[in-house]
Amino acid sequence: MLIIRANCVFDQAKLFYIRFMASSYEFVGRAAEIAREGGALLMEYFARNVAIEYKGDADLVTIADRKSEKLLVERLHAAWPDHDVLGEEGTLTSSGSEYRWYVDPLDGTTNFAHGYPVFCVSMGLEHRGELIAGVIYDPTRDETFAAEKGKGATLNGRPIHVSGTAKLGESILGTGFPSHKRHKNPNIQFYHQLTLRSHGVRRAGSAALDLASVASGRFDGFWEFNLNSWDTAAGVVLVREAGGIVTDFSNGPFNLSSREVLASNRLIHEELLKNFQEIFAGRGVSELPSAVEYYKKRQR
Ligand code: IPD
Ligand code: CA
Ligand code: CA
Repeated sequence: MLIIRANCVFDQAKLFYIRFMASSYEFVGRAAEIAREGGALLMEYFARNVAIEYKGDADLVTIADRKSEKLLVERLHAAWPDHDVLGEEGTLTSSGSEYRWYVDPLDGTTNFAHGYPVFCVSMGLEHRGELIAGVIYDPTRDETFAAEKGKGATLNGRPIHVSGTAKLGESILGTGFPSHKRHKNPNIQFYHQLTLRSHGVRRAGSAALDLASVASGRFDGFWEFNLNSWDTAAGVVLVREAGGIVTDFSNGPFNLSSREVLASNRLIHEELLKNFQEIFAGRGVSELPSAVEYYKKRQR
């Protein structure tokens, strides 16, 4: 009986803390509602199996990307009429405001278009050149990630923290590959080497969710080449507020125009940077196994 009461008091304290965290946010309370509305709209289209259109040879877009952006931008303008918005599908308002939202109305379009349920809505807020807030909503799992500078990061209202994994050899990592100019991207080398040097590398297909996974301790690290501001703005705030770190591949500061993103739980960051420098220098790099040799041996 006593134990049940103690649990009850503990749950109430937890609930109070969760509510307190959510109410102390200035922007992401309303932004999360907007992202959730966008996510619900995505799920309606997801159920309908929408047609694929092409922005490039493997760069897909659907009606859901455009409809979601329209809805998010309308809601953001209604909530904060003086804020500017940059959206992946063409929105650009530049009134000279000190605030600008970076909106990815559907991160993970290729997954979405093929019926693979890994995608999200991502919205990050910049103030005078500094990222200050971010919200990522995954409608397939009903998960809302939110963070504001100096106020911590939450998942469905509960505080989250990066993982405690201290060694690269014991880590799980995420990465992604661009759909634009993909034949020029060297990331397959990094994918190969880091797969051999960790517990494994996942390529889930949504950079925003990958960053949310670092923030919530599901991944120990994430990297990608050539992401855009709308892919990273929200996730970077989440990682930082959850105790992690984001830099470029040479430990330079990350900013929205950085073409390289390296995010981690901090503990493995130095090791990751060292490995990136080694791979760039071609030191200690094992060659990709030859498919030709494999096939020859198989025929013997
Ligand atoms: C893509 C996803 C993917 C990443 C690509 C992005 P989109 O965004 O985030 O994981 O590897 O580089 O372009 O096109 O689905 O919004
Ligand atoms: Ca994206
Ligand atoms: Ca997108």
